[in-house]
Amino acid sequence: MPVAKKSGSRESRPRTGDEIRSAFLQFFAQRDHKLIPSASLVPEDPTVLLTIAGMLPFKPVFLGQSEPPSPRATSSQKCIRTNDIDNVGRTARHHTFFEMLGNFSFGDYFKEQAIRWAWELSVDVFGLDPKNLVVSVFREDEEAETIWRDLIGVDPKRIIRMGEADNFWAAGPTGPCGPCSEMYYDFRPELGNALIDLEDDTRFIEFYNLVFMEHNRDGDGRLTPLENRNIDTGMGLERMAQILQNVPNNYETDLIFPLLEKAADLAEVDYYKLNEQSKTSLKVIGDHSRAIVQLIGDGVIASNLGRGYVLRRLIRRVVRHGRLMGIHEPFLEKMGKVAIDLMKKVHPQLQDRREVIIKELKLEESRFLATLARGESLIKDLLIQNPEQITGQQAFELYDTYGFPLELTQEIASEHGLKVDVDAFDEEMNAQKERAKAAAVSIDLTVQDVINQITLELDETNFSGYQSLKQSSQVLALIVDGKSGNMAKAGDSVQVLLDATCFYGEGGGQVGDCGYLINKDLKVSVNTVTRSQGVFIHCGQIESGTLEVGDLVQGVVDHVFRRMAQAHHTATHLLQSALRKVVDANISQAGSLVDFDHLRFDFHFSRSVTLQELDQIENLINSWIVDAHALVVKDMDIDIAKASGALAMFGEKYADVVRVVDVPGVSMELCGGTHVKNTSEIGLFKIVSESGIAAGIRRIEAVAGHAVLDYLNERDLVVKNLGKVFKAKPLEIVDRVLSLQNDLKATSKVLAATREELAKAKALAMLNQALVVGQNQLLVTRLDGAQGDALQLAAQGLVEQLGASGVVVLGGLPDPGDTQKVILVAAFGDNVVASGLQAGKFIGRIAKICGGGGGGRANLAQAGGRDGAALDRALGTAEKELAVLLQ
Ligand code: ALA
Repeated sequence: MPVAKKSGSRESRPRTGDEIRSAFLQFFAQRDHKLIPSASLVPEDPTVLLTIAGMLPFKPVFLGQSEPPSPRATSSQKCIRTNDIDNVGRTARHHTFFEMLGNFSFGDYFKEQAIRWAWELSVDVFGLDPKNLVVSVFREDEEAETIWRDLIGVDPKRIIRMGEADNFWAAGPTGPCGPCSEMYYDFRPELGNALIDLEDDTRFIEFYNLVFMEHNRDGDGRLTPLENRNIDTGMGLERMAQILQNVPNNYETDLIFPLLEKAADLAEVDYYKLNEQSKTSLKVIGDHSRAIVQLIGDGVIASNLGRGYVLRRLIRRVVRHGRLMGIHEPFLEKMGKVAIDLMKKVHPQLQDRREVIIKELKLEESRFLATLARGESLIKDLLIQNPEQITGQQAFELYDTYGFPLELTQEIASEHGLKVDVDAFDEEMNAQKERAKAAAVSIDLTVQDVINQITLELDETNFSGYQSLKQSSQVLALIVDGKSGNMAKAGDSVQVLLDATCFYGEGGGQVGDCGYLINKDLKVSVNTVTRSQGVFIHCGQIESGTLEVGDLVQGVVDHVFRRMAQAHHTATHLLQSALRKVVDANISQAGSLVDFDHLRFDFHFSRSVTLQELDQIENLINSWIVDAHALVVKDMDIDIAKASGALAMFGEKYADVVRVVDVPGVSMELCGGTHVKNTSEIGLFKIVSESGIAAGIRRIEAVAGHAVLDYLNERDLVVKNLGKVFKAKPLEIVDRVLSLQNDLKATSKVLAATREELAKAKALAMLNQALVVGQNQLLVTRLDGAQGDALQLAAQGLVEQLGASGVVVLGGLPDPGDTQKVILVAAFGDNVVASGLQAGKFIGRIAKICGGGGGGRANLAQAGGRDGAALDRALGTAEKELAVLLQ
């Protein structure tokens, strides 16, 4: 029973791009479809370079690898396709960047419902007249044809059967796929049904593709049924806009035309008066301007590989088409701003990343303009010689030495009516490749040499880790067990260089991230990441699978460790600020370390920070943590950043545009590190130590976040053990220790006094051993177990007993168990001193025998030594010498 309806009223039809997008999403939301926001242009799927269709984020769902977000979903997905780049601007509807509106069923509704809703949406909501509609079905899909014909009521002559090339859709050579059915708008229905050629894009435009996703294709091209029968559809937003705005091509819709107008304005031309070739240039500029701001907005930066190369190529094409239009000054900033303004309402991240996008555009444009200028002047030199053509060798030299692309040489040559010998150019190119191969002899290089060599050839790695902890990327180079290599296998230790990364590379005091690089069977554990010339080096081991240069992998940062580093990094900023507030406003940083488990902050200051100040600092920082300050991180012009009070490291070189980490009202620093979003995430802050590390430089070590708990647990254990040992409660331990110390002191005093008495008593008992030498009485003897004081007292006491002509030398080990400590004491009576002998000099000489020295006054002196085994010999020598000296 045919149900074809009349078109909706003209007034109620959506018309602008925004209205069309909303109408589509609302239509399906009202039919229980979950609204899914657009995914990034950089897909999570590591095997795909860019998001090319609305279904891409759902690929794992179709394959049964992940749960659907809901049985039905709808989205407006940002897409980029570059396979038709040469058609952009030449046909009415080819794009690099476009938005695909889609409705999806994951094993829920299927063919009939999808077709019914597609018709209802097109006719009732968008108001398309059924007489303008044509549909195509897959040659073998009887069912679809029957639905269109018998249930919807489409004229069978306007249902066209198509082959596999047109009506069987797949996201790639393998993966989910299925027959599809497309809806076309016929701009000239009056031409009738006899001559329907859907390839004729002056008459027809395909605007809605319904894919009946029911197969999976494997590497050998075999189809197997998917677990579910699914629906994947795509409506080109720009195409529907062209139809509803009744303009001759997509570029003249409100989604893109303001960009063409801006470019026309810069070229000082009127778009509508231009020839087709110039219009094409403006269309290319308009199309690509949207693509490049979206790519940079999603974290891509220009390079010579992968996505980076897509971006570079698009930017270069904009510049070249600008020059064809007579725009010779840099103009990408202006185009970029219009593109951002045009799309920011629907894609707010463009506004958030506005400064980054503009900066990257300006940088890449200036690089390309410099290449162009250099090449053009070289070509001019060649042209002065009036050649018949540019030889392959000349073109190759321009390319090889000056980085000037062949296509540009051709373009400039053709402006002068000349051709380039491309065959000869190719020959030169091949010859150079051979030379390079031959030159690649292996030399023993250190890992650092290899890294330096490789990084020289690479562009800076695109770092996305401020926004994301996952990033798909391509392997640009590998170092396997210290040598440059192409492939690594399980067990190998590797350094992996990628075109993009979410891993923070060690720098600015902060340690590198750890985590994994994964792919289907591959797992690489990344232990740390370093940086060399802006190139990130992922150091780790292959746990399973193999890794080759050129592979696409997904990086996953260990978020727990990242959080710990972030807490310590933000805490370091708070510490600097607190030091300046509490101790001295002029304190400046001398260095820092931000690790996962602690932080270290070195600063210029000439005295130690008092305990009271440290307490205040700790309290202030913890109050900032409790106050939950949200951080604001933004890119700023360096002068503006400094003028607004952002702290910079003295003597450090900064770029013109800098990253500023602001804890509003608390701290503002130029910093490239990663930080918490809110100070409350730090949890707690604790100073562990304060010390001097060099003249005028102090160091504070502290812990933040979870590390505080580890620190406290360790201390707690010590306190518990002390409590056990001293049998005291934690708060009683100090008193207990102090009282024990006092007891010990008192006991030591008593012990010393007792020892003295004992030494004296022992010495006196030896009086009768004194020898008579001439007029003198000489006593040399060993007395172990007495300290120096006690020994001196004993010697003095003995001399007193022996009289003015007495000479006493005592030697001993103060601790009889320690043969490394010897004490020798000499005491000479007054007459002996008067005869010219000096106790100090004498005993100093004797002590040398025991490996020591010392001395003192003429009548009483002490010396020490380290060789207890030589003590008896020393005393023997003393006695012999004195026996001679005293004669
Ligand atoms: N995935 C389908 C396409 O991109 C809808 O055309």
